[in-house]
Amino acid sequence: MTLHYQAKELNLPLGRIQDADIKIWMAIIGMLLYAVYVLTTLTDKPKIKGIYEIPNGRPIVGHLLQLGEDHATVCEGWWRKYKRSVFQIRLGNTRAVVVNSFDDCTRMLIGHQSAVIDRPTLYTFHGIISSTQGFTIGSSPWDNSCKNKRKAAGQTLGRPALKTYHPMFDLESRTIIRDLVRDSNGGETYLEIRPYLQRYGLNTTLTLCYGIRMDSVWDDMLREVLEVGSAISLLRSASENYQDYIPLLRYMPNNEKTQRGRSLRDRRDKYLNELLDRVRDMIEKGTDKPCVSAAILKDEETKLSGVEVSSICLSLVSGGFETIPGTLTSCIGSLSTPEGQAFQERAFEDIKRHYPNVEDAWARSLEVEDVPYVNAIVKVEHAAWAGPFGTDADTVAQEAARYYTVSAMSLPRKAYTDIEWDGAIIPKGTMILINAQAANHEVEHFGPDAGTFNPERWLQSLSPPEEIPSSGLQHHSFGGGARACSGQLIASRLLYTALVRLICSFKIVPSETEPPNTDYVDYNQFKSALVAIPRGFKVKLIPRDVDSTARCMKQAEARTRDAYVE
Ligand code: HEM
Repeated sequence: MTLHYQAKELNLPLGRIQDADIKIWMAIIGMLLYAVYVLTTLTDKPKIKGIYEIPNGRPIVGHLLQLGEDHATVCEGWWRKYKRSVFQIRLGNTRAVVVNSFDDCTRMLIGHQSAVIDRPTLYTFHGIISSTQGFTIGSSPWDNSCKNKRKAAGQTLGRPALKTYHPMFDLESRTIIRDLVRDSNGGETYLEIRPYLQRYGLNTTLTLCYGIRMDSVWDDMLREVLEVGSAISLLRSASENYQDYIPLLRYMPNNEKTQRGRSLRDRRDKYLNELLDRVRDMIEKGTDKPCVSAAILKDEETKLSGVEVSSICLSLVSGGFETIPGTLTSCIGSLSTPEGQAFQERAFEDIKRHYPNVEDAWARSLEVEDVPYVNAIVKVEHAAWAGPFGTDADTVAQEAARYYTVSAMSLPRKAYTDIEWDGAIIPKGTMILINAQAANHEVEHFGPDAGTFNPERWLQSLSPPEEIPSSGLQHHSFGGGARACSGQLIASRLLYTALVRLICSFKIVPSETEPPNTDYVDYNQFKSALVAIPRGFKVKLIPRDVDSTARCMKQAEARTRDAYVE
């Protein structure tokens, strides 16, 4: 109507006015749409020139939806599809560089170790869950406090300290066998082995931190620590918790993630305070055991604050409680299969070759890892790089940790300084994601059977078994460089001792109705979690020699009678 009138007044043809207006409106709408697009695709760091960006990132969410639940497998697929081992993606408003191939992961972690020493902070985990007990070491940005915490943890987890933990290794691994003997009814009953191994992982770290252990697999506090820990690990995952990357979601009414974060924090505070109170009580009665928190509570030469102490204890407890049982449970799954049973027998033969009897093998497994075939499954190895801030050397556990990369995307890193990468500059502050699962299964690096569980890849001869001398990082399951896993030495010893004792005591065979899933991706029932949770399966534990196992247990019981009794 208006257009018609204006055209008449100005004596212009109506069509020209309409065309001009429509063009202007279209331009305005176009500009607005472009501005909305730019605003909704803005990231903390601008697009990095010279590093390939995965196509089809969407406004607001970026690549989050395409990544789905299983980031490691999707990124591995992108590496193969676009033929780029290093690429950039958008996690909502956060730009991240993903590294996939074995050599590139090594180059990033070792070649640029000072530049990738930092860790990113996330809204839910850092802002809500960690507000009372401080950040764990694995989630701390690189600063003086982190340096002190890492150093203190390094002392607790380093080689000299390891010797003082023999009673703990003895007691906890004997307890596994004791309960498995009792519950498997001479090999009649099929069992889920994971709960026994969860207690193993958790008790060792609780003992280190508080001098406290729980004897029953179904202890209430033990189950609470495991449940809360796993739920927190889920909230750290990008695929479970979009509000870390899409800030708008934080302001939604009745925000479920925030409420959940707060409730988990409160539950965690409750048991951490209870544990500390028990330590205080033991100190008063003079019954406390040497452990991190007692040393600090008694003020033994420490420069750490209360929050830092909580943070160290939390780091050790959360470092071990899922990774150890995750690796060991899935390893036992693979060893129980028909092909795996051959590995079990060869490992048992090798143990017998090294020791005159099983009792000796049990006792020595606490001190030294010297059976090559068992080492090929789970082993400690010195790598070329020894970290200035951590344990005394980089180590690796072999096939079990490689094949079942329980922390598939490792722990996220952040560029501490600009990183020069093949002519491109990855700016300071950019999130760096290491796809350990992809690196650990790279056919170009491990050969055509990279996707098969085969401990013998680490042996140069089978009769007798002899290890291939190694140097440098053998796989990426423990990360690498200046923020590599602080618990590698203790992890390897825990895996080794438990495996020697299990193999000496039982022949492990799978249930026909509930067999293990041994696919290196699908064995994990929660692909979005930070640490894999193996799917349930059952095994039958056929006793090898009831009398000798009983003798081994009796000796271990005598050795540990006074250890960790409250
Ligand atoms: C099979 C067992 C384990 C696996 C596969 C594992 C894996 C990892 C990985 C992938 C990282 C990140 C490394 C990186 O960013 O380069 C890490 C960090 C860490 N782990 Fe472990 N871990 C295991 C056992 C343990 C145990 C038993 C403890 C302690 C008792 C522990 C304590 C830590 C700590 C404190 C960090 C943080 C290091 C830092 O950020 O400076 N881990 N672990």
